[in-house]
Amino acid sequence: RVLRGRPRDLSGRRIVVSAGGTREAIDPVRFIGNRSSGLQGYALARTAVARGAEVTLVAANVTLPDPAGATVVRVESTAELRDAVLAASGDADVVVMAAAVADFRPATRHDEKIKKSHGEPESIQLTKNPDILAELGRRRLQARAADPAGAGETAGAAVPAGAAAHPGRGTAGAAGAVAGEPSGRVASGGVPSGGVGSGGGSEAAQGRVARGPHPEVIVGFAAETHDVLANGRAKLVRKGCDLLVVNQVGEGKAFGTSDNAATVLVAGGEPVEVPLGPKEDLADAVWDLVAARLT
Ligand code: CTP
Ligand code: CA
Repeated sequence: RVLRGRPRDLSGRRIVVSAGGTREAIDPVRFIGNRSSGLQGYALARTAVARGAEVTLVAANVTLPDPAGATVVRVESTAELRDAVLAASGDADVVVMAAAVADFRPATRHDEKIKKSHGEPESIQLTKNPDILAELGRRRLQARAADPAGAGETAGAAVPAGAAAHPGRGTAGAAGAVAGEPSGRVASGGVPSGGVGSGGGSEAAQGRVARGPHPEVIVGFAAETHDVLANGRAKLVRKGCDLLVVNQVGEGKAFGTSDNAATVLVAGGEPVEVPLGPKEDLADAVWDLVAARLT
């Protein structure tokens, strides 16, 4: 394969990529996790940097070396991933959720190691995790409803996390209640007012005011074993994202390989097939579609 030269078509764009897989603690030494290696997310981060973007990579339990030129935030649990993604996406143009997020977590975390001498094992009660991708879509929808023109010159639009913070706080609170999360944690994660507020200020000073409700492009990933296109299309709509990269899993298509094939579902457009190839090629195909949607 000939390595193709990359356009600098993402230059000046702020992009958040999540990668890897979250872990949910059972006790201090054990967790519920998944097999995500982080390779696809890292390929996305690397190629976005190569195309000129300013990249924040939120990495959940990835053992790969930091990609040059990206800001890497390391997290472990879904709650931490959510905090980091929401904090970074307040003034981002694009968010790509390539991380495999645990759907459930143990309802309680034991402070001490569970000992087998305590008799027969107890079953582990699970509770649902917040859906970060759906939350991003919901917040943007709320921000658009509040500012239909997408004027972007108001303080609220310049600092969309601020605009989304109030509706977002309610949403996060509700999600937190469902998830049984202590409200303090949700409030601190759902309203990253310090960081985003000050960041937004210095950005405005640099003339880097975000345009309209952000992120402008939201990308999800999905692994499906059956009815790939129908399930993917439903997921795209349910989560309110613009692109959904759907992988067929099973039949020997293993995690941790350097190749990937996918169908990219496009909101309001035809699906794009990306043939089996290096994860960098899939990443570039995603960035081609993202770049076409950025104004
Ligand atoms: N995702 C997320 N938060 C979650 C679960 C998933 O942000 N709690 C994101 C993933 O990062 C991915 C997309 O949603 O980009 C789709 O994940 P997937 O697991 O396929 O979707 P689910 O809604 O969890 O549905 P399923 O029951 O098929 O697992
Ligand atoms: Ca899931």
